[in-house]
Amino acid sequence: MKKMFSMAIISAFCLGVNAQTVRIQQSITPTSEDSKVINLPKPRKEGGKPLMNCLNERKSIRKFSEKPLDLQVLADLLWASYGISREDGRRTAPTARNAQDISIYVVMESGIYLWESTKNVLILIEKGDFRKETGPQEFVPTAQWNIAIVSDLSKYGDVKDVAAVKYGAMSAGYVSENMYLYCASCDLATVARGMFNPEVMNKLLRLNENEMVMLIHSVGMMSR
Ligand SMILES: Cc1cc2nc3c(=O)[nH]c(=O)nc-3n(C[C@H](O)[C@H](O)[C@H](O)COP(=O)(O)O)c2cc1C
Repeated sequence: MKKMFSMAIISAFCLGVNAQTVRIQQSITPTSEDSKVINLPKPRKEGGKPLMNCLNERKSIRKFSEKPLDLQVLADLLWASYGISREDGRRTAPTARNAQDISIYVVMESGIYLWESTKNVLILIEKGDFRKETGPQEFVPTAQWNIAIVSDLSKYGDVKDVAAVKYGAMSAGYVSENMYLYCASCDLATVARGMFNPEVMNKLLRLNENEMVMLIHSVGMMSR
């Protein structure tokens, strides 16, 4: 990871000029591996391919290049997925009754992080590479980021009520589709995964009994 941040890296990102994806060489400020908090760059809220192209190109991809993406791409992806888009705090993805039950965790080489969207930072939960533990499929540890979409079912009242699980799963579905569309827009590889061990994930992410991992997106640079 240190290596990753200590050099200039190539990132894919969208400028949306003539619907083309533009790749540039970008230097980033090194972030110490020991940082308990990673400050993310300001998300870019413009550009990208036209929506109809993104819909047409959205697909599940399970093969990832080893080439690293930078924190700007992660900031953009997280914002596109579930970022605050309005002054009243509402977001890019809807939630039933605006319950805002979703939390997003990023499992990457340097550790497990909780995305704190209001501050645009990643907060370290656990240091170390736990990507392999986020799913049994072979490609999982090869994805740069495994991003868990978690619902706090208590935001919908009684967590045992089927409505709570239904709404939580639906909220996660919207976030997941936003992730898919952002990745299509930037030619990134991603796949939504329901295949993971819930007990392992609850422990890794230190969730409470009301929180449920709904999906995990493996994300990385597309392998050509
Ligand atoms: C709720 C859900 C769970 C999924 N779980 C997995 C999974 O655990 N592993 C996997 O490789 N793909 C998983 N997928 C991806 C589907 O296999 C994929 O969407 C489907 O084959 C259609 O392909 P497409 O996404 O390219 O249209 C999941 C998709 C959804 C919506």
